[in-house]
Amino acid sequence: MEELLDLGRYPLHKPESDDYAKLVEHCSEALDSNGMYDLPGFFHDHVVEEAAEAVKPAMATEAYLHARTHNAYFEKSVPGLPDDHPALKQVKTINHTLCADQIGNNPVIRLYEWEPFADFLAATMRKEKLHPMIDPIGRVNVQASYEGEALNWHFDRSEFTTTMLLQAPEEGGELEYRSDLRTPEDPNYDGVAAVLNGEDPLVKRIRLTPGTLNVFKGVNTMHRVVPVKGPKERIVTIFTFYERPGVILTPEEQMGFYGRTATA
Ligand SMILES: [Fe+2]
Repeated sequence: MEELLDLGRYPLHKPESDDYAKLVEHCSEALDSNGMYDLPGFFHDHVVEEAAEAVKPAMATEAYLHARTHNAYFEKSVPGLPDDHPALKQVKTINHTLCADQIGNNPVIRLYEWEPFADFLAATMRKEKLHPMIDPIGRVNVQASYEGEALNWHFDRSEFTTTMLLQAPEEGGELEYRSDLRTPEDPNYDGVAAVLNGEDPLVKRIRLTPGTLNVFKGVNTMHRVVPVKGPKERIVTIFTFYERPGVILTPEEQMGFYGRTATA
């Protein structure tokens, strides 16, 4: 794994070491205070480039193009809210997705299947254990966004999202987020509407560098990716883990997310 990862800086292979404990503590605190952590240079530079180049042929020919209109909740309606409430404003998302079974032995798959990676993520999220999915398509996804495209404003449905940027565009493609916009007690619909209208001064924007591991707590932090500008596409990997082993998507979920089904 040292061929892929900067284990000197991020000693995931030494879970008993003080440096490991310090790193986990740093990440957990960042999740508490800022709702995310970044580990720049997690993949060696040449590995990031190799991983990005390796997905490009399949991305050009067999990616699933998913273009849809949605609101921040990915729901048709929200109980108690009139359908014309500004918090339910419709936005457009376009992405091109490759699934785990289309990217072969890409370095991102090797990372996903390396148990110390899941163990490290679990420790930073203060969870006992995380398991890779056995779903042949949902487990690891690589998404590309071309000029004018992006993932629009939303709340995540899972507690944490783990990604690694493989290629940054020349302009755009930053992550914009508004921390703690809602709580389990207060959905703050007016606040949601303000973000959608570009009227919330607390929206922050970060630009990630390729090879950075990002863990993001997006359930109550509304976020989007800024539309890409220029000829170079944004490429990102999404790793999906569960607290229980053996998770597999239903054929209906596979169709909804990827437009096809596949069995393990
Ligand atoms: Fe998200």
